[in-house]
Amino acid sequence: MRTHYCGALRSSHIGETVTINGWVDRRRDHGGVIFLDLRDRSGIVQIVSDPQRTPNSYEPANALRNEYVVEITGRVTQRPEESLNTRIPTGVVEIYADKIELLNAVRKQLPFQVSTADSENVREDLRLKYRYLDLRRDRMARNLQLRHQVVKTMRRYLEDVENFIEVETPILTRSTPEGARDYILPSRVSAGEWFALPQSPQLFKQILMVAGCDRYYQIARCFRDEDLRADRQPEFTQLDMEMSFMSQEEIIELNEKLVSHIFKTVKGIELQLPFPRLTYADAMERYGSDKPDTRYGLELVNVSDILKDSGFKVFREAIANGGIVKILPIPNGNDTISNVRIKPGGDLFKEAAEAGAKGLAYIRVREDGEIDTIGAIKDNLTPEQKQEILRRTDAKPGHLLLFAAADVATVNKTLDRLRQAIAREFKLIDPEKINLLWVVDFPMFEWNADEKRLEALHHPFTAPHPDDLSDLKTARAQAYDLVYNGFEVGGGSRRIYQREIQEEVFEAIGLSPEEAQSKFGFLLEAFEYGTPPHGGIAYGLDRLVMLLAGEESIRDVIAFPKTQQARCLLTDAPSSVDAKQLKELHVASTYKPKS
Ligand code: AMO
Repeated sequence: MRTHYCGALRSSHIGETVTINGWVDRRRDHGGVIFLDLRDRSGIVQIVSDPQRTPNSYEPANALRNEYVVEITGRVTQRPEESLNTRIPTGVVEIYADKIELLNAVRKQLPFQVSTADSENVREDLRLKYRYLDLRRDRMARNLQLRHQVVKTMRRYLEDVENFIEVETPILTRSTPEGARDYILPSRVSAGEWFALPQSPQLFKQILMVAGCDRYYQIARCFRDEDLRADRQPEFTQLDMEMSFMSQEEIIELNEKLVSHIFKTVKGIELQLPFPRLTYADAMERYGSDKPDTRYGLELVNVSDILKDSGFKVFREAIANGGIVKILPIPNGNDTISNVRIKPGGDLFKEAAEAGAKGLAYIRVREDGEIDTIGAIKDNLTPEQKQEILRRTDAKPGHLLLFAAADVATVNKTLDRLRQAIAREFKLIDPEKINLLWVVDFPMFEWNADEKRLEALHHPFTAPHPDDLSDLKTARAQAYDLVYNGFEVGGGSRRIYQREIQEEVFEAIGLSPEEAQSKFGFLLEAFEYGTPPHGGIAYGLDRLVMLLAGEESIRDVIAFPKTQQARCLLTDAPSSVDAKQLKELHVASTYKPKS
């Protein structure tokens, strides 16, 4: 019977006989004395066995190999002075093994070394295929525990302090529009009809408010079939919340208390309240992004007014076509960033091109204060324009000014990418810094150029700002996002709770009354039976834990994540199914495998 976890043993246990279970992290033979590092979920402890002091365990100890599973009974002893290990919490003790029982051996060659002592870089596909081995590793085990701590803290706080109740909402449901493609599932019993997996519990949580639930939360699994990135998974987890009878200010205040409680509990960090706020318009203007990383400066400068009549065609035409010209000023960029890097083929040019920019104009400020640039810009710049550009960008000798000139979205996207790349290169990001901020006053809609229609920026249930009701199309929304070091970790809004306004919004995004009725009739009808004003938010749990853990990918804080190709390498899903199953589901595949 286990008496202790490995990682729990301390000097206070010296003299006790203990029984521990675990995996052999490493086995070393030091001239007839065998040392084992025994690992379990809690950590590692050193076991000693030799023929003189522990004759009964020496043979079994000798036969052990990495990752064998054992039960060990032995005496906790003070380590000799020269072998104290200050790097692990159990480093002052070791256990003389009186008895070692092999519970299970490893029968195959390990695909990689699990031992925390080996820092080799293991390929991610191997880690995902043998996830059970990967999760034994110290870093991953710690990430899972941190995730658990975060969820536990959320539950305790919301339930015990703020009076929320957790309600589960269906996974088999109909489409919930959050802007991504749906995962859909054929129904066997309703031939020709399909369920969709929820992109979020949005509509159910609103219905729960109509139902009088008042304060709801859920640790909710969401499904979105979208292109994957380091911070996106096809199935991910939200802390989802909804509240009745609360203003936007009250919702934000409650959430600041929740977030600061999480930081305090799991990281011991005291956050300053309230969090800073930026309007969407300011965020886009100054950073080119609605989720700016404000740990460093490098703010963008709009110079469209200076250059609207410029003789340089690229600037003039961009502005004439409704676009803008903005500058990313880079202090000390003149020496470090060569023209090769800005011109076609260069790394910064590529960065800009991926955002849709056609080119990158520049001005270099020389030591004598004069400027270097291409002839077409220099020849077309009046002394006043030049002075005003230098003044507005606060350009000093050594500055490099990078220009983007195009439509608003392309300019912002380009300079946002460059800003981040430069901050990384110039090491301007203090990894210790935690910048949490609210972005508020989002517009209700943005223009979808491909589909030539307005699209809800958050989702179509977001309430317009009460001051902007006269023109819904340009209205601001009562929406807020929480940004943490440049990542959107949460987003929410107050909701529409009146049928007429909801119908107007559906119309604005191009839904006909018939479509609105067929997709959301149940919601519109519910609004007519006494709906309280309500609002809420959802946090990306995976993203939040990733940032708290200092990881760069949410895959490292999800026990069984999917690859970039949305596959599970452990179970090899998705997989084909029997023709019989398809038939029962009234489905035929049109896919033709390449021969
Ligand atoms: P939203 O779509 O902004 O809002 O999602 C909320 C938060 O979920 C996280 N997130 C993701 N995390 C990992 N992988 C993904 N594919 C992914 N997509 C989103 C982000 C995001 O901030 N129903 C609304 C919330 C509300 O209005 O209350 C919603 O889902 O961190």
